[in-house]
Amino acid sequence: MYQYDQYDHLIVRERIAQYRDQVQRRIAGELTEEEFLPLRLQNGLYMQRHAYMLRIAVPYGLLASKQMRMFAHIARKYDRGYGHFTTRQNIQFNWVELEQTPDILADLASVEMHAIQTSGNCIRNVTADEFAGVAADEIVDPRPYAEVLRQWSTFHPEFIALPRKFKVAINGALEDRAAIAVHDIGLTAVKNEAGEIGFKVMVGGGMGRTPILGSVIREFLPREHLLTYTEAIMRVYNQYGRRDNKYKARIKILLKAIGVEEFARQVEEEWADLKGNAETLTLEEMERIIAYFQPHAYATLPAIDPLADHADNKAFANWLKRNVKPHKVPGYAAVVLSLKKTGVPPGDATAEQMDFMADLADRYSFGELRVTHEQNIVLADVEQRQLFQLWQEAKAHGLATPNIGLLTDMICCPGGDFCSLANAKSIPIAAAIAERFDHIDFLHDIGDLELNMSGCINACGHHHVGHIGILGVDKDGSEWYQVSIGGAQGNQSAIGKIIGPSFSAQQMPEVIDRLLQVYLRERTPEERFVDTAQRLGIAPFKEFVYATPIETAGRLVGEDEYA
Ligand code: HEM
Ligand code: SF4
Repeated sequence: MYQYDQYDHLIVRERIAQYRDQVQRRIAGELTEEEFLPLRLQNGLYMQRHAYMLRIAVPYGLLASKQMRMFAHIARKYDRGYGHFTTRQNIQFNWVELEQTPDILADLASVEMHAIQTSGNCIRNVTADEFAGVAADEIVDPRPYAEVLRQWSTFHPEFIALPRKFKVAINGALEDRAAIAVHDIGLTAVKNEAGEIGFKVMVGGGMGRTPILGSVIREFLPREHLLTYTEAIMRVYNQYGRRDNKYKARIKILLKAIGVEEFARQVEEEWADLKGNAETLTLEEMERIIAYFQPHAYATLPAIDPLADHADNKAFANWLKRNVKPHKVPGYAAVVLSLKKTGVPPGDATAEQMDFMADLADRYSFGELRVTHEQNIVLADVEQRQLFQLWQEAKAHGLATPNIGLLTDMICCPGGDFCSLANAKSIPIAAAIAERFDHIDFLHDIGDLELNMSGCINACGHHHVGHIGILGVDKDGSEWYQVSIGGAQGNQSAIGKIIGPSFSAQQMPEVIDRLLQVYLRERTPEERFVDTAQRLGIAPFKEFVYATPIETAGRLVGEDEYA
């Protein structure tokens, strides 16, 4: 993985010193909260409902075991013993004290990490496929390109005060595992007829108040032009993006206003001036960065069936089926450690679990881990012959729930329990649903189902692209939930459609149950929930869900636990 050079070390160190001084001045009352606000946001520090929250960047989700151990240390020393992995492949600590934040950043710097660009109107953490480098369907490893973009965008003077935040995702494989269609810029690797590698460039995707899928503005961008072309896009956006209205400031609104073709024309015009300049990537520069992402020293192993010696172990079989993914090198597999155990807020890990995951990485996966945008952790390089042992260990630490891609593998933002922008809670709803469907055979029978939930329209929980999406809304001061179906991420991205009037928190598990009943009745043998929903449209689901009133049961599971 990439390692800091002298410049990285220097800029991070200087930033911490500067921030330490700002915090001291705030505490001494020399800075007002209003003056301090942009300074703290530049360092990833938000104000939540109850406390400060620190968001730390995990570039393209890749972590060394010592970095994961540092998260454990931070959770233990400065927080309440846990952290929250997010859809942007970052981690958030929800209970930090202002005066300690410079020390946290100094601790992070010691393992080459920081919180720069995790907030504010700049280019944010670049995200990528969590199976980068090991997936069999990969055209090119996207991480060196994500790294080039990271280096280029960090403190880029022209793009630190954009009209709004800016998110870039990059995918190197045939299957999109980085949700590129819902990013401001989504890049996917393609090969042209001459066998050269380049990127298909998508712009203007995003969720929030106005969910829009990105539009392709260039089918093939030779990879050496990655920076100059991105710069051209950023310039057009920086110049014409609306600064008068925060809700209309994202690039997606600009594209909608002037049209994709006109936007693409302006980008090409801007690019004509930039193309071939000093920021054009040279082969030497790319090779220098690619060298940090070389494949590990894999052993020569036969491909085996890990179940062969454990044929009657159903629990292990379930785990293999859901949590273990193919690897391009024979004899290896990629393992997803589930952070979605029933009773735990999705994406949360305790300090003990973080230390343990770091240990697993050291013992089984070349000391590396990846954070997924679905809020799980991946060990990408595990020998197949060690899977059984790894499974037993992970199980003992609550990290082997065999539910990857299933209903209980929900994406869920912190919602009203933490976030000051929330209209409604989301974690207790996730808990109530997980509790109601906590039956592994039933979940496996339902099959692939992405349930995504956000506590407000900002869509941190990606509800628009959930096969089932739940959105917390405020009606006359009380919390309600709007349900959509048919959304999807990946190659077949789609925005879900709302099925009708919203529901109370207590009604939500029954709503999900009714949606599933329609699916089970209507599905063809190979259909996933989303396929049935897209084929039939919302009508039959809507009809059944609203056919009879849903009794409001008693207390929500988890309501008190997460208050
Ligand atoms: C205290 C916690 C948080 C605050 C204050 C916060 C704030 C916001 C705001 C204001 C937006 C809307 C931006 C816009 O108008 O486009 C947003 C969007 C977003 N946030 Fe958060 N967020 C928080 C936690 C999270 C968490 C936990 C996640 C991941 C699970 C997350 C991931 C995202 C994503 C992916 C979007 C993007 C939607 C889009 O594509 O436009 N955020 N957040
Ligand atoms: S979706 Fe809304 S409630 Fe949830 S974390 Fe984002 S801003 Fe907060």
